[in-house]
Amino acid sequence: MNPTKPETQVEAEGTTRMSRDTLSVTDNRTGKAYEIPIQHDTIHATDLRQIKVNADDFGMMSYDPAFNNTALCQSKITYIDGDKGILRYRGYSIEELAEKSTYLETAYLILNGELPTKSQLEEWIYHVTHHTFIHESVKKFLDGFHYDAHPMGMMISAIAALSTFYPEAKDIFNKESRLRQTYRLIGKMPTLAAFSYRHSLGMPFAYPDNDLSYAGNFLNMLFKTSELKYRPNPTLEHALDVLFILHADHEQNCSANAMRCVGSSHVDPFSATAAATAALYGPLHGGANEEVLRMLLEIGSLSNVPAFIKRVKAGETKLMGFGHRIYKNYDPRARIIKRVADGVFEIMGRNPLLNIALECERIALEDDYFVKRKLYPNVDFYTGLIYQSMGFPVTMFPVLFAIPRTSGWIAQWQEMLLDPEQKIARPRQIYMGSELRPYASIGQRG
Ligand code: ACO
Repeated sequence: MNPTKPETQVEAEGTTRMSRDTLSVTDNRTGKAYEIPIQHDTIHATDLRQIKVNADDFGMMSYDPAFNNTALCQSKITYIDGDKGILRYRGYSIEELAEKSTYLETAYLILNGELPTKSQLEEWIYHVTHHTFIHESVKKFLDGFHYDAHPMGMMISAIAALSTFYPEAKDIFNKESRLRQTYRLIGKMPTLAAFSYRHSLGMPFAYPDNDLSYAGNFLNMLFKTSELKYRPNPTLEHALDVLFILHADHEQNCSANAMRCVGSSHVDPFSATAAATAALYGPLHGGANEEVLRMLLEIGSLSNVPAFIKRVKAGETKLMGFGHRIYKNYDPRARIIKRVADGVFEIMGRNPLLNIALECERIALEDDYFVKRKLYPNVDFYTGLIYQSMGFPVTMFPVLFAIPRTSGWIAQWQEMLLDPEQKIARPRQIYMGSELRPYASIGQRG
């Protein structure tokens, strides 16, 4: 957040000068001076285009591979202060939401900007719950996947396929239609995830149970066997719900950016969500939780931790679940997750990999390599241990991230669509390739 600017500033010598919200730039190639407006501590990149060497010049651009220092949008959804380790949805702290809210209430908040009233919440839960079933044909193509297909690959395909079942979803500027697709996406994500999991086990699909909570029904579809009515363990149900709250949004991360970028072409929200899910799948993003567990298994014992850290410091491998583009402090979600883990381990038994994880964290938080680079545990460092203890296979971990993040993606997509400043996302490049050259026939090529 930007502090209010003082109208005047007192310089070191004691003289007073008027402060202006502008940036003065002198182009030393031409000697010309420019004054560029500053708003929210930011300059508009297109204001640089007036800086030209001559009239034919395209104008100056800013070069920012990986968007290290580029604001893509103005947003009212999620606030992060990475130095202080603060995360808020619509102004509410993640700590308070994790303690007092539920995932569906938080999703409503993220999507609508305000906490729901009692009747708004009941209506919202009713509609999401009544959109959990999927068309029977979706089951047929889930059945077509190989038995060991990664569930994220199945999810990405199945979400994209939903667009063919709901062609009216293309009507993206119709508020009613957007709301219907929102119910469908949030309602059906757990069903697609659970069906993908059951397919990998060769188990029959378990249908949604509308009497259960969002997290409880998900556990039902995953783990129900022969019982007439599945009763989720309340501690595990609550733990999963809290994890869903923690994963609901995280402003302009890789997958939210994919959602906005793909959505900016005005494609339907199912196709855009499939793209966002694909972005999340990567090991540097939501796939990191899967990699953390593989890494802890590879380390294998406490005595191997120092040697592994040595390899990390030598640049041979990464300490997965550590580091973040934005957080240069402890990820506030990781703190809450550690508490959730205690509750889960009490019921399911302590995960034997926990000691290795704690030792990695202890060494890393003291070691100069990690301290200097401000590398702290991120959200993915401990989630895998909880998921494993709850009985999820490693390949399901990124899926458990994608389900709750859907509400954040839709909120980001909707904000982008309704923002008059937004257009189709289309970055520029600095062309470094060949100049024009004549085509050489195959016999003439060296
Ligand atoms: N282990 C070891 N060294 C690391 C790690 C790590 N996990 N993360 C960053 N570094 C080092 C880099 O090598 C680099 O060192 P250098 O300055 O000597 O070259 C320095 O720290 C800065 O790292 P960058 O890669 O420039 O940071 P960036 O912001 O681009 O990357 C990222 C952030 C992708 C999260 C990175 O920290 C990483 O790969 N972490 C491991 C994967 C992971 O846990 N991802 C989940 C992120 S949370 C999420 O998406 C839900």
